[in-house]
Amino acid sequence: MLSREDNDLLTRVSDGAPMGRMLKQHWWIPAALTDKLEADGKPLRVRLFGENYVAFRATDGRLGFFDEACPHRGASMALARNEDNALRCIYHGWKFDVSGVTVAVPTQPANEAEYCKHVPLKHYPLREEAGILWVWLGEGEAPPKFPELPFVGLPRENFVVFRQKVNSNWLQAVETTMDSAHLGVLHQSWLVGFGDIELSSANMAPVYHVAQKPYGFRYAAVRQLKDGRAYVRTNSFVMPWYGIVSPNQSEIAGGSIFFSVPIDDENIHYWQMTYRSHEKLVRNKTHHYEDADSWPPLPPGPPEDNWGQDREAMKNGHFTGFTQMLGTEDFAVIMSMGPISDRTKEHLGAGDGAVLAVRRSLMTAVKEFMSGDTPALARHEAIDYSKTPPGSAVVEGSVDWRASL
Ligand code: FES
Ligand SMILES: [Fe+2]
Repeated sequence: MLSREDNDLLTRVSDGAPMGRMLKQHWWIPAALTDKLEADGKPLRVRLFGENYVAFRATDGRLGFFDEACPHRGASMALARNEDNALRCIYHGWKFDVSGVTVAVPTQPANEAEYCKHVPLKHYPLREEAGILWVWLGEGEAPPKFPELPFVGLPRENFVVFRQKVNSNWLQAVETTMDSAHLGVLHQSWLVGFGDIELSSANMAPVYHVAQKPYGFRYAAVRQLKDGRAYVRTNSFVMPWYGIVSPNQSEIAGGSIFFSVPIDDENIHYWQMTYRSHEKLVRNKTHHYEDADSWPPLPPGPPEDNWGQDREAMKNGHFTGFTQMLGTEDFAVIMSMGPISDRTKEHLGAGDGAVLAVRRSLMTAVKEFMSGDTPALARHEAIDYSKTPPGSAVVEGSVDWRASL
């Protein structure tokens, strides 16, 4: 349970809220799928932390990222012409090249070149990595280190990446990613289909063992099997929102990375990247999207209709009645908590160890930030995450799985 003040501090990210300012200052933000950006194509409207931006790919393939409002009189640069490595506002023709320099102000009758020098356009440092456009929205000249997460540098066929817009605050989605306890309950109808026998047959309550790390924490969720052995899933939380979780099959080198990026206080893009470290990813049913920008499917109905829950399917054996996709089940429960979950009313228990660890990491960081420091969890040097892979294994009772942390 949290106080109202602490719940606000952890969840609010717009309008200058400290958490939002910290996230923008100290971490790179996943902003868009780069497949959506064609050279000289349509600029993309991007909303992050309650502010509007525009992303585009220039003639020569470079990417640009500006405030959405034209610095002249505020027309949307999403409407702009994308040509000659620049965006040209359609209202009065002011033109800004991809690196943010104002190159034409045709409404200026004299001294145009001089006038251009004094038009401030807000543009932002970018990285293109793993099919994602990343932006740094902080103040100053020095962006933070780019997170060398496990998918960096992988061949395109080794991973899938997709996202969905969800009406939820970012924190309850991050908590869900790290909450191992819900897997064998909420997703039980899917796990049987995936042949995840360990998870579906284990005693459902995992015991958490959390190890603090310079980037966040790692934990083992340990479930006792009926035959005396233990099923151990080892996951990582990388600040500020990356949940790196193990694949179902223990022989696989790879995993899934979930991240929930705030559009504003009450909406997120819920991203998923599933990767294989050394081989092509064989796609399963959960990876077959038509549009990577809206996958997995949202619950099919409005709240008044219980988000479209299918009670008939439940009578026929489906546990949740959200038969669309595994992720749809997550979205249904996350949305049902309300846009910003009221943590003053919750009752946490031993099964919520990972949720508490997420909150502790973020709370410590935001308090350091508010006192003027760079949060310790943002200060670490480059980390080779391939040395701390997620994993799942069935082990004899005597095996010390702590070695995997
Ligand atoms: S508002 Fe964009 S050029 Fe005038
Ligand atoms: Fe889930």
